Amino acid sequence: MSKIKTAFFCRNCGAQSPKWIGKCPSCNEWNTYVEEIIQREKSALEKSVSGLTGKKSAPVLLADITSSDEQRIIIPDLEMNRVLGGGLVHGSLVLLGGEPGIGKSTLLLQMALKMSGTKILYVTGEESERQIRMRAERLEGKNEQLFILTETSLDNIFTALVQLQPQIVIIDSVQTVHTGDLDSLAGSIPQIKEGAAELQRYSKQNDVPVFLIGHITKDGMIAGPKVLEHMVDTVLQFEGDRHHVYRIIRPLKNRFGSTNELGIYEMTGTGLREVNNPSEVLVTHHDEPLNGIAIAATLEGIRPLMIETQALVSSAVYGTPQRSCTGFDLRRLNMLLAVLEKRCGFRLGAKDVFLNLAGGIRIEDPALDLAVACAIRSSADDIAIPMRTCFSGEVGLSGEIRPVQRIEQRIAEAEKLGYTQMFISKNNLKGLGRNRNWNIELVPVAMLEEVFNVLPVASIQSQ
Ligand code: TYD
Ligand code: MG
Repeated sequence: MSKIKTAFFCRNCGAQSPKWIGKCPSCNEWNTYVEEIIQREKSALEKSVSGLTGKKSAPVLLADITSSDEQRIIIPDLEMNRVLGGGLVHGSLVLLGGEPGIGKSTLLLQMALKMSGTKILYVTGEESERQIRMRAERLEGKNEQLFILTETSLDNIFTALVQLQPQIVIIDSVQTVHTGDLDSLAGSIPQIKEGAAELQRYSKQNDVPVFLIGHITKDGMIAGPKVLEHMVDTVLQFEGDRHHVYRIIRPLKNRFGSTNELGIYEMTGTGLREVNNPSEVLVTHHDEPLNGIAIAATLEGIRPLMIETQALVSSAVYGTPQRSCTGFDLRRLNMLLAVLEKRCGFRLGAKDVFLNLAGGIRIEDPALDLAVACAIRSSADDIAIPMRTCFSGEVGLSGEIRPVQRIEQRIAEAEKLGYTQMFISKNNLKGLGRNRNWNIELVPVAMLEEVFNVLPVASIQSQ
């Protein structure tokens, strides 16, 4: 007889019920009941843990704790190392979230293969051993200490961990792990929480880093990663457009480093390749300037990135004009269109506007505004922007160009890549250090119209 007792609790008001109910009688909310363990004899970890070197913790004086930096495992993957804050911390729990098919399994398998000599256990509940083998053959690297376990039961996973004592554990995916202690299906919130909680205890007690792979769907709702975010040490998000080759990894939370980092990969036929020079690959090289293209000097976290914004403005075929964008916030696009209309006298009311950030990358830096506005203008009026010109500035509601943070870093990146002219906010220019001579012409602008007055002249000159 199982000694486990579970009950259902309302996520909204905490009311308890022995059975699942659709509508909470106490707060009248629908679909809020989830199953939780309220009493048990031994958890999956405890059942199999007797052989593990579980440490008992005792209070320690803060002053007695050695403050030397955390010992980190350096991963032979620069991008991954960087987003983890300079290596993998022992005993940390890392959640790698992303949409299905984006390349999470590939990323971690590839990492495991590159760490030759490190004993790694890759637990998969999604693929067969043969499938993993086939994938490994496509990837670079060879690790003779890499073990594969196809298992979904938490009890069996812990038994294997006790026997093998690996240095790193990868769980693919946390949605497939389940414990018999709960009645709910694998992938449900109680199962995921229980699995993650047990793996966290294992990780902390044995000082072994554990990677959890978690799926999120487009609407971001599916049971899983979201509820785990507060339990794990680091949350990495793997994103990108499945139809494009570039993938971005960014930390949403990191107890051991900054969340301002960013890693970029390119999906190739032989796995993910690190992209160390993103600005060069994200800008397409044309032979001559094209209409509707403007280059933005953006900053993701602390990494400067030159991004190509492409706009297409055409007469609306249907009554309601279409506005659509990829990689950019639609509300922000609508705001920019309104500014163009109201402050610069642009008639865009009967036009379709499409906007695209090249490479399938999503950027939230407000400094993109100026480039987006110029790309729209360039497409609407058929004026090509000179190829070696770039932009960095936020557009305010009155059409003013506002300063952006860390402008020197952006200018330095543009200069390094051979741009000859850069439009920036007048206020940014004031703050720039006088002691440096830039090898790039800085054009300070206060209002959006000013840019539009200068641009046609510049484009004629360049022809
Ligand atoms: P996968 O790691 O299975 O995604 P996830 O675990 O996030 O669901 O990767 C899926 C995609 O990656 C698949 O559509 C094919 C592509 N891929 C390559 O392009 N090259 C490769 O070398 C590998 C292994 C995968
Ligand atoms: Mg997978």
